[in-house]
Amino acid sequence: MCGIVCYVGDKQAKGILIEGLKQLEYRGYDSAGIAIQNGNAIQFDRAVGRISELERKISDRAMQGKSGIAHTRWATHGEPTEANAHPHRDRDERVFVIHNGIIENYRLLKKRLETKGYSFRSETDTEVIAHLIAIYFHGDLCEAVRKTMIQLEGTFGIAVIHRDVPGKIVVARRGSPLVIGVGENCHLAASDVSAMVRHTNKVVHLLDNELAILSAEDFSISTVQATPIERSTEIVDWQAEDAELNGFPHFMLKEIFEQPETVRNAIRGRLDYAEGIPRLGGIAPVWDSLKQCRHIVIVACGTSYYAGYVGRYIFEKLTDIDVSVELASEFRYRRINFAPNTFVIALSQSGETADTLAAIREAKRKGASLLGVVNVVGSSIAREAGAGVYNHAGPEIGVASTKIFTSQLTILSLLALLLGRHHSLSLTEGVEAIRAIDALPGQISKVLSLAHSIEAIAEKYYLKSNWLFLGRKYNYPIAMEGALKLKEISYIHAEGYAAGEMKHGPIALVNPEMPTVAIAPKDSVYEKMVSNIQEIKSRRGPVIVVVNQGDEDIKEIADDVIEIPGTLEFLNPILTVIPLQLLAYYCARLLHRDIDKPRNLAKSVTVE
Ligand code: G6P
Repeated sequence: MCGIVCYVGDKQAKGILIEGLKQLEYRGYDSAGIAIQNGNAIQFDRAVGRISELERKISDRAMQGKSGIAHTRWATHGEPTEANAHPHRDRDERVFVIHNGIIENYRLLKKRLETKGYSFRSETDTEVIAHLIAIYFHGDLCEAVRKTMIQLEGTFGIAVIHRDVPGKIVVARRGSPLVIGVGENCHLAASDVSAMVRHTNKVVHLLDNELAILSAEDFSISTVQATPIERSTEIVDWQAEDAELNGFPHFMLKEIFEQPETVRNAIRGRLDYAEGIPRLGGIAPVWDSLKQCRHIVIVACGTSYYAGYVGRYIFEKLTDIDVSVELASEFRYRRINFAPNTFVIALSQSGETADTLAAIREAKRKGASLLGVVNVVGSSIAREAGAGVYNHAGPEIGVASTKIFTSQLTILSLLALLLGRHHSLSLTEGVEAIRAIDALPGQISKVLSLAHSIEAIAEKYYLKSNWLFLGRKYNYPIAMEGALKLKEISYIHAEGYAAGEMKHGPIALVNPEMPTVAIAPKDSVYEKMVSNIQEIKSRRGPVIVVVNQGDEDIKEIADDVIEIPGTLEFLNPILTVIPLQLLAYYCARLLHRDIDKPRNLAKSVTVE
């Protein structure tokens, strides 16, 4: 969703800010804007559409200045127009503000300001912030931002510059991410470290109800009550080249092909063959209660939710724990009684998804213990959970999540195996599982070597406008994830179904125009999947199947076959999902879709 990037230092800000905005493009946006300060002068511009449009607009404007703020907007209040794009400014054009999040009481604040004679230039909730800061400013910008923060309800990450405070930027947050970057002779701030990694890997996370004032030389953090905060810098392990395409046409394809490495990163240093047990340092703070735990609730959104859904089957297979999986967006509306010793596991790539964050806060309030499985180090969910496991998968830029999904499945398998070994699993079973997990990166490479044949299957079917994905047990959530991938990036309508439910409805849709993707590795539900495939074939529906290598029986009935290596049943989804990611990718490419930035979608959904 919206992105923030700020720079103050010894270099011209314009190029650095535009470059930073481009690194945030993947979050999803519909307009962009920039404001540059030079002494007491501030120049600004905004454009609807891509950052290249803003870049074109300002290409012949000098916009000199060594400090500035820039923003990508994903419309919430008011259409994506230039007037609604950030930065927003006060009446006298002294204060310029960019904002991520939603100000829930903006109508009330706006009405109050209007009765005092203020007029508004936009339909946004953000503009009230600029007016309030201008009203409260009497020489101290931090103080003006503090007084404004007290008035605001809702969520925000903001960055503010003022004509009378040259060479300084004030940033503040409540609920929306903001990270400070400590560079050489400069400071940066951004909603996402990927906007800063070209300049520094030293970061400081701002927490809720804190603000910071940045200059080229230093920065200081304080709370909304003006209490100074000392916080040391952290080093991020993301490299600038992680955010480059490196010869791939799209980030999504690059990330699909990174999966041997990202799964390896998820298991590196975590497999103990001798004990048949994984080692997960991040759960040490809660280990004593975790090993007693009898109930787990997994909460997540989107693709992470489907990873959680597979996780439920894995925990049920390897442990004696009761597991439920909940959509984070619904979780807080449920009246849940947590049994004693319940753990809530939040799965989130970004660590910033608003619904997942709200769900774990609700769970904490009700006495559950928390664990996070998060990719972004230091993110809100990672901090709130306090304990958990990082994916260490590097930035995921493609809006459609791929490499994080398989990484999440790997980590859930490790967690379940660890708990299982403290329940009833034997050493032999533990070692067998460890061996199978260790073999996954090599097997993923084998699946990826099928990319060309999967592209050929996409060529055959990409013009079909309705698809069905079927799976059972571990592969039921994979059917849903396969359908989601296709929808997200190709805009083809697809449904993921439990194959056993097919006869209760979807079979009515089967005809020669609707392809069905059936996930049928040789597992405990294989025979039942074969029957479902036959039912579709007898109604002349084309069937693409994902099977284990050497499955000659299915070849006779299916139209197209994707053969993947075999593994333990509970690990199958880590391999079966990859052909579906590729199939979605190639269909979208044939349809000339904007694959890394599909329409209306955002990478990180930071509003509820
Ligand atoms: C958005 C993204 C999805 C992602 C979901 C959850 O919808 O487009 O790819 O799966 O958010 O995000 P999270 O960062 O919490 O995993």
